[in-house]
Amino acid sequence: MAKKLRIGLIGYGFMGRAHSNAYRKVSNFFDLEYQPVLKAICARNEANAIAFAKKWGYESVETDWRRLLERDDIDAIDICTPNNSHAEIAIAAAKAGKMILCEKPLSMDGPEGVDMVKAVEKAKVPNMVWYNYRRVPAVTMAKQLIEEGRLGQIFHYRAKFLQDWTISPELPQGGAGLWRLDAKAAGSGVTGDLLAHCIDTAIWLNGGFASVTAMTETFIKQRKHTLSGKVEKVGIDDACAFLARFKNGSLATFESTRYARGHKALYTFEINGEHASIAWDLHDLHRLQYFDHKDEGKLRGWRSIHVTDHGGEHPYMDKWWVPGLQIGYEHSFIHQVADFLAGLASGKPAGPTFRDALETQFVCDAVLKSAKTGAWEKIKSAAK
Ligand SMILES: NC(=O)c1ccc[n+]([C@@H]2O[C@H](COP(=O)([O-])OP(=O)(O)OC[C@H]3O[C@@H](n4cnc5c(N)ncnc54)[C@H](O)[C@@H]3O)[C@@H](O)[C@H]2O)c1
Repeated sequence: MAKKLRIGLIGYGFMGRAHSNAYRKVSNFFDLEYQPVLKAICARNEANAIAFAKKWGYESVETDWRRLLERDDIDAIDICTPNNSHAEIAIAAAKAGKMILCEKPLSMDGPEGVDMVKAVEKAKVPNMVWYNYRRVPAVTMAKQLIEEGRLGQIFHYRAKFLQDWTISPELPQGGAGLWRLDAKAAGSGVTGDLLAHCIDTAIWLNGGFASVTAMTETFIKQRKHTLSGKVEKVGIDDACAFLARFKNGSLATFESTRYARGHKALYTFEINGEHASIAWDLHDLHRLQYFDHKDEGKLRGWRSIHVTDHGGEHPYMDKWWVPGLQIGYEHSFIHQVADFLAGLASGKPAGPTFRDALETQFVCDAVLKSAKTGAWEKIKSAAK
């Protein structure tokens, strides 16, 4: 019989739904020693929490996350709340001896992230941060191709994450659904929200950052705050572009904005190596573009690989339908839960751990600092 992993999930918004869906489906598709049980959902509004529990199959409801930590029928806490609550909840959960799955970005900034890493490592509790794009099969396959040495030396890494939903000056900041525009709740704007994803993927695929130089802009300087009702200064970066040098000698460019009219969630990256190049696009997430200079000259060109094959050739795909049928965004969360559960069984923790995610936090800090100083900033090491 499978061992149970009893989940207490906090926050029933976008990520609360994505994670609940992953917990519900993972055991149907993956054969694992552990099986998640939806033990409790925590949200401040009881009526909404009860409705969510009914819809998703949670056994119970809490309205204060502290109560969740006192319960001995909960093994793991899943933090799906805005960024300014991650540290407080995670540190308390670690003290209570709970495993922790925390949404990204790990923290509001590097120093807060350091405290979180200390807490989970002191308590020796399994921990993971939901940088889910690592588990899109085409992205996982990019990692495999790089590890197999197919690209050779990497010269360039290029990433962008473009949206267009905050262009209207009438859009308020703060409160439900709009906390991302409030620096007090989000920590930063596109840097911590969107570039954090690009940075995590880049660290995973291309190794550590050495230094960065950045520029940011806040196009709308004041917005009405939903909670105070007053017009307040906007403290987040609406757009950010930065240059980076990686420890492996490669040069990189990163760009993110919520002001790219026509783009909703255009996360793309391209990597150029000595022998081959790779490109990926979230809007076409099941495809990996690959160019191999070793191909016969006459036929040499970009291949568009439909990453849906079985037989262990395409990551995760043998767990799904038949070759040629694609999967989507929500599956990246199912894969991440599967890897977390497999890591519990094997004793080899699935990444990114809190310490892995701290590295991303240090890059974000350096980017935001450089945008103020105009200087190149070195990246602090997150290694032990
Ligand atoms: N991995 C990803 O791709 C991804 C995507 C979106 C969001 N996120 C991250 O997930 C987190 C949540 O984002 P979201 O988009 O789901 O936000 P959301 O606004 O949709 O949901 C946040 C939820 O937290 C609840 N909440 C806030 N404070 C609470 C508290 N003290 N106790 C209990 N519940 C509380 C809110 O009521 C809401 O249900 C953020 O850290 C965000 O950066 C990650």
